[in-house]
Amino acid sequence: MEIAIQKLKKKLARAERVTVLTGAGISAESGVPTFRGADGMWKNYQATELATPQAFARDPELVWAFYNWRRDLISKVTFNAAHQALVDLEDQVPHFTLITQNVDGLHLLAGSRNLLELHGDLWKVRCTKCERVVLDRSPDMGTLPTCAHCGGLLRPHVVWFGESLDPDVLGSAVEAARSSEVMLVIGTSAIVQPAASLGLEAKAAGATVAEINLEATGQSGAMDYAIHGKAGDIVPRLVGEGT
Ligand code: OAD
Repeated sequence: MEIAIQKLKKKLARAERVTVLTGAGISAESGVPTFRGADGMWKNYQATELATPQAFARDPELVWAFYNWRRDLISKVTFNAAHQALVDLEDQVPHFTLITQNVDGLHLLAGSRNLLELHGDLWKVRCTKCERVVLDRSPDMGTLPTCAHCGGLLRPHVVWFGESLDPDVLGSAVEAARSSEVMLVIGTSAIVQPAASLGLEAKAAGATVAEINLEATGQSGAMDYAIHGKAGDIVPRLVGEGT
């Protein structure tokens, strides 16, 4: 692992174009639960079962209770050493793109600039009637929040299972992946499409691709480097001075 870290660090230091894809694992050390596994449980529900349009149609109060819980939790935490290291990397690399599946806003809080939020933003709400999108950082939106403009039911402005990603955001992400020399895939189970394909697209286009994850994923074998450990330990070592 040490050799892999040193080699990858050298590649990053020389690269003109670097793209990074992050998932819930990068925020785990900030105290934000991931989606899958034991960590993804909220009350008796799997987080993934609540992040669907069907769940919202069936029981919007339950889905809002889940999102209010996430809002409250995330409002009390901050970015960690891995988020910070990606800001430092952006400062060093001429063409840097950060693609995140996370909706927690911690990359922006850390200071990342060229950021593509593939799955939306927890701190925005959208009216189910008039489609207006509003930024609202309240830790508790109430039981069933309504639109100030038309009175329609609000929903989180996030992409749920079965919904389409913003085509412009996705297009920019694919372009950044394909044109990168080095791509890092950090803290994602690499299961949810289309995000899960981005690392492989970069690889197919000739990039050096590295996974940084607590454990092996279904994509580890396809990577040039698969570095297993905590993002908060590994990412700063890839970017910082020294070893
Ligand atoms: P997951 O919960 O599926 O995966 C989190 C990954 O992070 C796992 O592979 C863990 O091994 C890894 N991990 C956990 N702690 C870590 C740490 N400290 N350092 C490094 N890695 C760590 O989360 P995502 O892959 O992000 O979508 O999930 C993708 C999408 O599924 C989410 O964006 C969300 C969800 O449904 C929507 O809500 C639309």
